Amino acid sequence: MGTALGTEPVLLDALAESLLRSPAAVPLERLSGRLDCPRERLASALDDLRALGAPLVETAEGLTLELADPLDAEAIRDALPKNYGVLVRRVCASTNEELRASTPPTVCVAEVQTAGRGRRGRDWVQPFGAGLALSFLAPAPRGRLDPLALALAAGVTGALHALGYPEVKLKWPNDLWARGRKLGGVLAIGEGAAAPRLLAGLGLNVHAAPRLAGREAVALADLAPPPSRNLLAARLTTAIAATLQRYEAEGFTPFAREFTALDAFAGCEVTLSEGERSLRGVARGIDAAGALILDTPQGRLSRRAGEVSLTRITHEGGRRSCAKI
Ligand code: BTN
Repeated sequence: MGTALGTEPVLLDALAESLLRSPAAVPLERLSGRLDCPRERLASALDDLRALGAPLVETAEGLTLELADPLDAEAIRDALPKNYGVLVRRVCASTNEELRASTPPTVCVAEVQTAGRGRRGRDWVQPFGAGLALSFLAPAPRGRLDPLALALAAGVTGALHALGYPEVKLKWPNDLWARGRKLGGVLAIGEGAAAPRLLAGLGLNVHAAPRLAGREAVALADLAPPPSRNLLAARLTTAIAATLQRYEAEGFTPFAREFTALDAFAGCEVTLSEGERSLRGVARGIDAAGALILDTPQGRLSRRAGEVSLTRITHEGGRRSCAKI
């Protein structure tokens, strides 16, 4: 992962789709013909698919792509209102980009993204078929959009509780958090002037968490056996749509209370990093504008999301200094 791929996502997508649709192993020669792709190019595309984590199996009969829980557009569509568009990609650069030409409301999910983006322009990486990469395009709710990602994170967390994951919490500003590690994250991107649209992006580790140096992560499967990703996609899209409606009707205020109640760091000693500077204090949840409240030896202060990041201070022996003081 994080490898530069030589094959364009559209060919990787067609290759994975062709393998997933085949009831039996596909000989390389047949695959090459089906995709109109020379053998040498096919070989490097298969290497790229493996590098993205696709579980390819090669036998004397040919190739199979064995996915226990493949994404299925029909299954997702059946569980959503009739007017919702549903796009399923096996491979794409980013589900956000796939929706640029769509009409709202439309949801797009992918088995894997080659250029997934997280907060602050960071890479967002999940192995093929292991998580949920979901973008939902909707008309933008009226009102200020800057704390919307926090409201969406609270809405998604509520849906995960209802699905049997009560230990999922939030880490300000937009992380889904469990057992001291990142489970997922939410983005909200406003676009368009005449008919403003909202692109909500959700990355959730489902069957396995990515192994990334210095960034420990957790997956739903570490907490309890997960439902199918199709069911998750439908339920979490519904939760996002309901949050957008509620945000338009009620604004951010009720979400600020909900966020603070779900905040894994509230009452904990934390370090807040802003560029070169760092501040220590006790996190106290968020205010009515979504800013983090921090009690420091110099007094209470608040910080908006942006170029700020938060870490919890743990003391020697791993004892957590989070006594809800
Ligand atoms: C974060 O930084 O924690 C938020 C991650 C959001 C990632 C999701 S995955 C689906 C959608 N497509 C992207 O490229 N990003 C979002």
